[in-house]
Amino acid sequence: MWRDSYKGKRVLVTGHTGFKGGWLTLWLKALGAEVCGYSLAPNTTPSLFQAIQIRQEISHHEGNILDSTHLNRVFTEFQPEIIFHLAAQPLVRLSYLEPVLTYETNVIGTLKVLEAARRCKSVKAFVNITSDKCYENKEVSQGYKEGDPMGGYDMYSSSKGCVEILSSSYRRSFLQEPGSFSLATARAGNVIGGGDWATDRLIPDCVRSIEKGQEIVIRSPQATRPWQHVLEPLSGYLLLGYLLYTKGKKYAEEFNLGPCTDSVLTVEEVTNLVIQNYGKGTVRISHKDSLHEANLLMLDITKAKETLGWQPTYTVKDAIKKTIEWYQKFYEGKTDMRAFSLQQINDYSTSIKWKKN
Ligand SMILES: NC(=O)c1ccc[n+]([C@@H]2O[C@H](COP(=O)([O-])OP(=O)(O)OC[C@H]3O[C@@H](n4cnc5c(N)ncnc54)[C@H](O)[C@@H]3O)[C@@H](O)[C@H]2O)c1
Repeated sequence: MWRDSYKGKRVLVTGHTGFKGGWLTLWLKALGAEVCGYSLAPNTTPSLFQAIQIRQEISHHEGNILDSTHLNRVFTEFQPEIIFHLAAQPLVRLSYLEPVLTYETNVIGTLKVLEAARRCKSVKAFVNITSDKCYENKEVSQGYKEGDPMGGYDMYSSSKGCVEILSSSYRRSFLQEPGSFSLATARAGNVIGGGDWATDRLIPDCVRSIEKGQEIVIRSPQATRPWQHVLEPLSGYLLLGYLLYTKGKKYAEEFNLGPCTDSVLTVEEVTNLVIQNYGKGTVRISHKDSLHEANLLMLDITKAKETLGWQPTYTVKDAIKKTIEWYQKFYEGKTDMRAFSLQQINDYSTSIKWKKN
């Protein structure tokens, strides 16, 4: 479907050593892009970045997005045309422990990446990855639309709300001139897929417990989330990057890239599906938890459907099945995980029902 959309394009990904960034980097390489990655070293062991063995195929840079000198040097050397900015402190619970780090990384770090892009005349398109949590969450069942107010109860969520406000202001302040790059933001959430080993995320927690032969302990079993496979928002980021690159400012806006409404399941339902797909595991509910986390959060994806032509492909059950297949192959230790991940990308691409504009 993508034909030559990314072939030979110079694409810079921040956060390429992380879960979503690793998958995106692999996909971009498969599409023939020249990829430069700028991130801290992988912060989990194991990590997707190690599992897919992508380091030698890209221009790999370990650096902090707060370090403008290093960022500017990498931008100047690589001369990127398209940027996908994913580097962030992405965990709600860690943001209660590290509020300053969360704000510095997510808000000031994003500003520094934008500034590096503005200095570099080769940049044409910038896709800024925020979150569904950027909205002021009223815990209502209707999905949030792109024009709804930004907010966020916890420091992670509000930092992503700030990144949205920052992006809008940045666009109006600096990106009106002809020749300036086109900046869009993409809001998705509760992404699942193989290769995520972050702490305090449901699927990695389940997988770790099952692999250690321990009980899975869940908090907030009735909290509902719209779950989506990692390749869903990534297909939207790729589409958005392509449209910004080829058609410019028309697409320089905010987009919700969430799943369909029937992808909403409770934490307990997802855990039970994980156990069913794994063929083993037991669960216990813990009532010891004082940190606030949103109970209900849905996105309205009408704008992405109508403007971009994008829509989700997998059902939530497909998403969980693909995710568990990946972890099982990894832990069996007999599979080339790079080839298996590419196979999952290929399977997903051939299942996509929408057509690129
Ligand atoms: N995973 C999800 O469910 C989800 C949901 C909504 C939004 N997001 C957003 O998607 C993006 C990627 O999330 P993820 O789940 O892959 O997270 P991750 O923790 O797996 O990856 C984060 C990446 O950011 C890099 N990073 C962190 N701080 C940095 C710094 N100061 N300088 C340079 N690099 C830094 C890390 O090295 C890593 O490569 C984030 O912006 C996150 O907020 C994720």
